[in-house]
Amino acid sequence: MVASVMHLQSYKKRKHPITALTAWDALFASILEDAGVDFILVGDSLAMVALGHTSTIPLSLDELIHHAKAVRRGASRSLVVCDLPFMTYQVSPQQALEAAGRCLKEALVDAVKLEGGYPRMVETVAVLVESGIPVLGHLGLTPQSVKILGLHQQGQSLEARKKISEEALALQAAGAFAIVLEHIPADLAQELTEQLDIPTIGIGAGPHCDGQVLVTADLLGFSTRMPPFAKAYANLRTEAIEAVQRFCQDVQSQQFPDR
Ligand code: KIV
Repeated sequence: MVASVMHLQSYKKRKHPITALTAWDALFASILEDAGVDFILVGDSLAMVALGHTSTIPLSLDELIHHAKAVRRGASRSLVVCDLPFMTYQVSPQQALEAAGRCLKEALVDAVKLEGGYPRMVETVAVLVESGIPVLGHLGLTPQSVKILGLHQQGQSLEARKKISEEALALQAAGAFAIVLEHIPADLAQELTEQLDIPTIGIGAGPHCDGQVLVTADLLGFSTRMPPFAKAYANLRTEAIEAVQRFCQDVQSQQFPDR
């Protein structure tokens, strides 16, 4: 049975921590599905990690959909959420509806994620949800706004904390099924998690969220630069380099293939 966004909401009620990881292709999506992650995010971090850009800004909707289709093929039983890329939803609710509609119809994902809150994104979330498209919100450090926010922790001043709190409540009222909280103080994330009926999914937001998400390349130790809040559970970059070097040595010394 394919999990639904309602399952995630019931996890919050049962205090069952939610797990989420990113994928951009069928291979890694199948690994996440076999490992039993609660939902797979086709994050726009694919622009940086898989496509070599220096920010998420250049990613196009066609590129995102191409990768989301592969993820869906690799993880047919999983709940799959995809990011809406920069400037595919900020122009108007109508633009967001068209972009999100393509993600559901072409890539067969279950939901979309979009960054930001008051006032425009709240209206956009309401329009998408009214049209039958589940939406995951994203507050705090929103990488598509890197040119304004930078990459540092958000929600440090009283005013900034208040804004994030109001935005979270407004996104919930607009129908978002959960909210990603990125790089905000742990006590703010805890307050929000307690205030909201919908789950919070933290990344660099401390241990009190209803769930946690990481970029899979960071978790597996493939990344050369990691955000301060990420944790590598393996060191696969080094292992991959060593395996490739052993292959090259075996070919050069004529030990592979066997004669
Ligand atoms: O694009 C992304 O990978 C994200 C994070 C929340 C993991 O949005």
